[in-house]
Amino acid sequence: MGIKMDKRILAIESSCDETAAAIVENGRKVISSVVATQIDRHVIFGGVVLEIASRLHTESISHVVQKALDDADMKVSDVDAIAVTAAPGLIGALLVGVGFAKGLSFSAGLPLVPVHHLRGHIAANYIAHQNLEPPFLCLVVSGGHSHIVEVKSYTQMSVVGRTRDDAAGEAFDKTARSLGLPYPGGVHLDKAAEGGDPHAYTLPNPKIAGAPYDFSFSGLKTAVINTIHNAQQKGEQIPISDMAASVRESITKILTERFMKCAKELGYKKLALAGGVSANSELRRKMTEACRKAGCELFIPPLSLCGDNAAMIGTQAYYELIEGNTAGLDLNAKASMEIGSNFNTSGNKNI
Ligand code: KG4
Ligand code: ZN
Repeated sequence: MGIKMDKRILAIESSCDETAAAIVENGRKVISSVVATQIDRHVIFGGVVLEIASRLHTESISHVVQKALDDADMKVSDVDAIAVTAAPGLIGALLVGVGFAKGLSFSAGLPLVPVHHLRGHIAANYIAHQNLEPPFLCLVVSGGHSHIVEVKSYTQMSVVGRTRDDAAGEAFDKTARSLGLPYPGGVHLDKAAEGGDPHAYTLPNPKIAGAPYDFSFSGLKTAVINTIHNAQQKGEQIPISDMAASVRESITKILTERFMKCAKELGYKKLALAGGVSANSELRRKMTEACRKAGCELFIPPLSLCGDNAAMIGTQAYYELIEGNTAGLDLNAKASMEIGSNFNTSGNKNI
């Protein structure tokens, strides 16, 4: 008996502050998708507290997985593989999903498919854009990463530009926090920026010698924090919407210009955005306009698929599964891992 062609995958995601599960058929069809966010429980701390995140994942993971199965009107025996985000992310958070997925795989005798979280973000585009296929160039911007990725095939990718320090999402979150905006800062800063003057403050735009596609956001973050502190010491008030608009303008301009330069020089006409920061309204506007001018095709996930979810993990897992990229039960979670590398495990006896 050969491998069934139709593949339904139960996918699990727990790399940060969302516990998520989904059932995805043949990579492109989301049958169910459940996301339980922990934001309310971290907001008083102004950021994700790892210990709390892990405990909340442990508390909710079985309910979230059960709901994904119920919503799809399925049982574990109806799926063909179990997928899980195994890297990168908060290690204690990842371990909850990985441990749960291994238990399911072991008890149900199903293949275990480890998924790189950022490959998952890129794959969110395959759900929204059924005709999108590699190769393309993708700007992957999340809370922990800012990468320009050459997506050569569904499972082969390489990073051609990256941040040297803070990720774009981190820069949004930290500047938002210094402006007194709640966690998660990016989305609140995006809203506060509407109506503000994007040119009220000039912020640093450092270039990295010899690395034209790399980013650096820590100088911008420090400049914002210093400006706010200096004003506070003088008893002055910084106009929040002007500063928010200036931060948004600077970060999105840097991302768009460097990404478009890279696309032009490497000869890509098919471009995509991925990751939580791709929800930023100004980044979407700037990229749409830049692609229109350059005659490039642009793929952006809908807002519902920009943040962390398990549907995107189930989509990527399909392409990993058909490549044979399954894991043995010695799979471990990793806090960091290059997007181009594969999980090194003993392979899976269940396939
Ligand atoms: O991909 P994601 O949900 O989680 C990670 O993998 O890190 O990305 C989260 C990041 C956070 O830094 C969050 O503030 C940022 O995405 N983000 C935004 C917006 N929505 C989410 N940043 C700017 N503007 C937004 N509208
Ligand atoms: Zn993410």
